[in-house]
Amino acid sequence: MSKLVNEVKSTKQFLMINGEKVKTAKYDPLYSPYSGEEIAKIAMADKELTVQAIDAAFNAREIMAKMPAYERAKILEKVGALLKEKADEAAEIITRESAKPIMFAKAEVARTIETYKFSAEEAKRIHGETIPFDAAEGGVGRIGYTLREPIGVIGAITPFNFPMNLVAHKVGPAIAAGNTIVLKPASQTPLSALFIAEIFEEAGLPAGALNVVTGPGGTVGEAIVEDDRVSMVTFTGSPSVGIGIRNKAGLKKTTLELGSNSALIIDKDIDIDQIIDRCIMGAFSNQGQVCISLQRVYAHEEVYEEFVTKFTEAAKQLKIGDPLNHDTYISALISKGEAERVLGWIEETKEGKATITAGGKLQEGILEPTIITGADHFLKVSCQEAFAPVVVVNKVSSVEEAIEQVNNSRFGLQAGIYTNNVKHALYASKELHVGGVIINDVPTYRVDQMPYGGVKESGTGREGIKYAVEEMTEMKLVVWNQS
Ligand code: SIN
Repeated sequence: MSKLVNEVKSTKQFLMINGEKVKTAKYDPLYSPYSGEEIAKIAMADKELTVQAIDAAFNAREIMAKMPAYERAKILEKVGALLKEKADEAAEIITRESAKPIMFAKAEVARTIETYKFSAEEAKRIHGETIPFDAAEGGVGRIGYTLREPIGVIGAITPFNFPMNLVAHKVGPAIAAGNTIVLKPASQTPLSALFIAEIFEEAGLPAGALNVVTGPGGTVGEAIVEDDRVSMVTFTGSPSVGIGIRNKAGLKKTTLELGSNSALIIDKDIDIDQIIDRCIMGAFSNQGQVCISLQRVYAHEEVYEEFVTKFTEAAKQLKIGDPLNHDTYISALISKGEAERVLGWIEETKEGKATITAGGKLQEGILEPTIITGADHFLKVSCQEAFAPVVVVNKVSSVEEAIEQVNNSRFGLQAGIYTNNVKHALYASKELHVGGVIINDVPTYRVDQMPYGGVKESGTGREGIKYAVEEMTEMKLVVWNQS
């Protein structure tokens, strides 16, 4: 165990308010989802401390708004560089607090470094456009252009499943655009966010520009969403919480990255051996706790049997165990309650005509990678978001039928299609009702500069640095009268 992780374990954590590490009256223990051992004591903020954090962010907003782009970029570059130096410690923190297997935690840290790098680059290219005023009779003799200005204080509420990179997706573009932030990380994964807050401090971010408040969602989250000085709330999490935020946010801007039951179509002309590894990654990486996790497969009847056989064989090979072991692929879900919930959903499939071809039970508290065939559309494993290593595979007789099934969902984040038929690819990209169509890969594809977000109950707004910067700035129009 690294020195840093030992220190984390033995010391009380803190809130980061106005550049200071602030103590609280109450601390709650944080337990490892894998071993159940206590790994830290987390500061529990109340409403008053949350308001203090908002005060700090509000007071720092002029400093950030006036900071030149090259300085904002420099801070973000430094954050990336410092994180690179501490990459092993960062990965270990992610693994210990979330049970994300270390191979995936390392990949998350690498992506986080890249997210800050993209943010640094984006800080230097925030610009408006000139407007052709003389296109209207009343515009003759005028010139004008738009500017993009920082929105002010941003409330960021982040999830447990990518505790470092999804924090970066909010903090990186917010700083790039010259805003200040009050961040409430997920209750199970505050350590990654606090680690990053210290890195920002070391990188020279002005006091108050990034404030981290840990504590009960009901208290901290609500105080952030309800405060009039917060101009925007950016949230990643469940649809029910997202809708609650939207209802309370009033005129604040909101970006909501919510869940999905993402689907993949496999056309009849596909070489199944070539896609099994990607399907395994899509369905089972991070125990399926990914908003774009592969949860539904619609395979053409000509390749269905071969796909089910090979996918099942591959799933059964996955190493289950301690997330700190370098070859572990599957470890514990974020809580025992989550494992119980999903087991209940799997149990429900046994009442119908579905067949479990792999997994379906716990192995020393860890849910095995589970594949279910022939599950009806109305079963929870099909129509709700599993957020677990569970995937349903169904047979279809055409791409058209598959698209209809994919669209028959409350969600619409990303969908994938494997096909060698250009017409089918074009048809799917037009007809799939989702935020992103991934051709010849699983829906679980994301690099951090691409636009990312969904339709229907998968949310509103887009992340991906350039697109998040757009959401996090206000357009201002300037018109010059030359006459
Ligand atoms: C998410 O779960 O929404 C994030 C997925 C990713 O960044 O890969």
